Amino acid sequence: MDSRNRKRKKEAEALDREVKLALERVKYKVLVLSGKGGVGKSTVATNLALTLAEAGRRVGLLDVDLHGPSIPTLLGLTGKRARFVDDRIMPIQHAENLKVISMGNLLRGRDDAVIWRGPLKMKAITQLIGGVEWGDLDYLVVDSPPGTGDEPLSIAQLIPGAHAVVVTTPQEISLSDVRKSVGFCNEVGLKLIGLIENMSGYVCPNCGHRDDIFGTGGGERTASQLSLRLLGKIPIDSGVVRAGDSGLPRLSKTEESPAAEAFRRVVDAIRSVLENDASAPDRALVEADRAKNE
Ligand SMILES: Nc1ncnc2c1ncn2[C@@H]1O[C@H](COP(=O)(O)OP(=O)(O)O)[C@@H](O)[C@H]1O
Ligand SMILES: [Mg+2]
Ligand SMILES: [Zn+2]
Repeated sequence: MDSRNRKRKKEAEALDREVKLALERVKYKVLVLSGKGGVGKSTVATNLALTLAEAGRRVGLLDVDLHGPSIPTLLGLTGKRARFVDDRIMPIQHAENLKVISMGNLLRGRDDAVIWRGPLKMKAITQLIGGVEWGDLDYLVVDSPPGTGDEPLSIAQLIPGAHAVVVTTPQEISLSDVRKSVGFCNEVGLKLIGLIENMSGYVCPNCGHRDDIFGTGGGERTASQLSLRLLGKIPIDSGVVRAGDSGLPRLSKTEESPAAEAFRRVVDAIRSVLENDASAPDRALVEADRAKNE
């Protein structure tokens, strides 16, 4: 081995050690996956992190979707730069129990258009996962790139023992993506908690009338075919869009909308699976049963 290769190998080993050390102090790692972009993965990841933090859990939110780092926009953190201490990235303290880091907080404005080449991309992903000084966390929620390609693959491999949730929309095309995502989880050893159906019909804010724009039952069918838990169905809600645009996604606490309630059920279900709280009803299964009987 020549000296350059040796140096490279040493660097890679050091990075691996760093990743391991950084994640040792995190109790539950939850990867938010989707078959494709635009289904609400970042929205779900953000609200999941916020709701868990409000419930008193110590939460980190990591945006490793290099192509669409949208967490800074969703949380009103655009233009906010992360600090470095001794070469370690200090996450941004967003709320009492919530720390956040996104590639968007590491790049300077003019670098935003950076085109990631393969090796550079992998290095960036590894550094984002291993280089952040989270401290002790109960949950690390990871907004992964969509699909089942190289990037989500490296992320899953870098975070051994992680759990995953898959976000989908009710259209048939998305459901075939779910099958791919399930296969992906099995292949890389991610423990799949369940499926979240987002943009699941529209509930009129004036009269409460429900319109299942994309049809009904797709989530239940796919979940039962693949023996998955359906963690919940979040309806289309203009409040979700407004909240995201304004950087104040307060879906979780103050809102009484059907979307907010659906979202709370999803988070309860995830918590009851992970924290194995026997006293909490398994609302995901209750929800699935209820939907089946409708
Ligand atoms: N339940 C919902 N109701 C209405 N709009 C939603 C909902 N979920 C997500 N959106 C909107 O859809 C768009 C895409 O969501 P985003 O979370 O960025 O998707 P992804 O991360 O999968 O690409 C955003 O404008 C977001 O506000
Ligand atoms: Mg996104
Ligand atoms: Zn109406």
